[in-house]
Amino acid sequence: MTEPSPTGCPFSGKTDSLTRRTELLTDGYDITPRGELLQAQSYSDSRTILKDTKVNQAGFLADQASNAQGSVHPPVLYMSGEEHTEMRRATARYFTPTAVNSYGPMIAKLADDMVAELAHKGEMTLDDLSLRLAVQVASNVVGLTSSRLPGMEKRIEAFVSTGLDGAPDANNRFTPLRDVTMGGAVGLFFMLDVKPAIEARKKAPKDDLISYLLERDYSDQDILTECITYATAGMITTREFITLAAYQMLKNPELRADYVHGTESERHAILHELLRLDPVVTMLYRHTNQEVSVGEQTFPAGTTFAINIQTANVDPAVMGEDAEQLCPHRPLPKGVQAQGLAFGDGPHRCPGAFLAIKESDIFLRRLLMWNDLEIVRHPSVGYNEIVKGYELRGLRLRLGRPQDANRQGATA
Ligand code: HEM
Repeated sequence: MTEPSPTGCPFSGKTDSLTRRTELLTDGYDITPRGELLQAQSYSDSRTILKDTKVNQAGFLADQASNAQGSVHPPVLYMSGEEHTEMRRATARYFTPTAVNSYGPMIAKLADDMVAELAHKGEMTLDDLSLRLAVQVASNVVGLTSSRLPGMEKRIEAFVSTGLDGAPDANNRFTPLRDVTMGGAVGLFFMLDVKPAIEARKKAPKDDLISYLLERDYSDQDILTECITYATAGMITTREFITLAAYQMLKNPELRADYVHGTESERHAILHELLRLDPVVTMLYRHTNQEVSVGEQTFPAGTTFAINIQTANVDPAVMGEDAEQLCPHRPLPKGVQAQGLAFGDGPHRCPGAFLAIKESDIFLRRLLMWNDLEIVRHPSVGYNEIVKGYELRGLRLRLGRPQDANRQGATA
């Protein structure tokens, strides 16, 4: 029999994480050398590094991004100092609860259409649906809504699937073939999605990111790299989380029932807990050009940190003895967020956190409320090394028969 944990959840001693990367674990919670990098493991050290304004972005191919030809403004993910603060301040309005709630009806319509399509077809692959949803929602925030051809999600998927490694110590080989493939995918995204959006916004600006970048005289090249950042940071991550949350709940009927019948805040608590145990971005990287202190220790200029979000998020010192178990509503120390560091922390903390949870919830509730929804094929678990994130592929779902779907209808 499983022991009850101090929080009242079953305490099996095993992890409820589906995507744990055991090869990245080190013993204990101290900062430990890992090749040329120092790896932070504990929640407290990880948070201290992320919040330090003296450290800079070192992940997501930061070297290549900062040396991009013809670029004047780095994308927000790689900015630092005053320029970064100003960009975050100016774009915060797209992510406020009021702004996010205003996207609600659009997201609900997309979600209803997707569930109806699944009911009509009988079977679909969930990661295709979650990609479509995440891309369409974020593209409204960015202003990527004037594409010349449908299929933007496939064009985005093509340039994030190049097999590159975003870690600062990675040995990426930029072969001519890889350059052409990547350049081709980015070129198509630019010609079919970004450029038409720029032209449309120049004629009639809207309240979106591209219109704002044009106001600041960003070039086409700089707008393109910012759109690529939003595509990877906002769309690919949300797609993976939706697939993961659906799969975990389909495998755990009690959790699914709690979710479907819960209030919005109860549902969000479940989603945060799922994200804590399976943070989409498993590693963040930072480099410092100045001496920095982390707890009692001081590290010299030139240090590069790898921050293991997976271990930080199950640090028992903060999350409790049962940190590895799924237990929504666990008691947390003041200032600790339910999803741990899954959205990062400090200056680069994810601006889309609330939007990501809101859109995931709108879709998942509509999907999981159907009693006759079932798994036809389980997903494979792999990793995308550019974002150091997991990839769940091939989760095939079946939903009843079309006539049942028409009878019941999907409600808000
Ligand atoms: C479950 C979904 C998501 C996850 C797990 C996630 C995770 C993260 C993380 C960990 C960071 C911090 C990177 C760092 O510190 O180096 C980040 C940054 C960022 N995210 Fe998200 N994100 C999600 C959804 C979104 C959405 C929906 C958007 C926008 C539509 C978005 C836009 C961004 C942007 C622009 C940044 C860069 C911010 C900066 O550097 O100042 N994200 N995200």
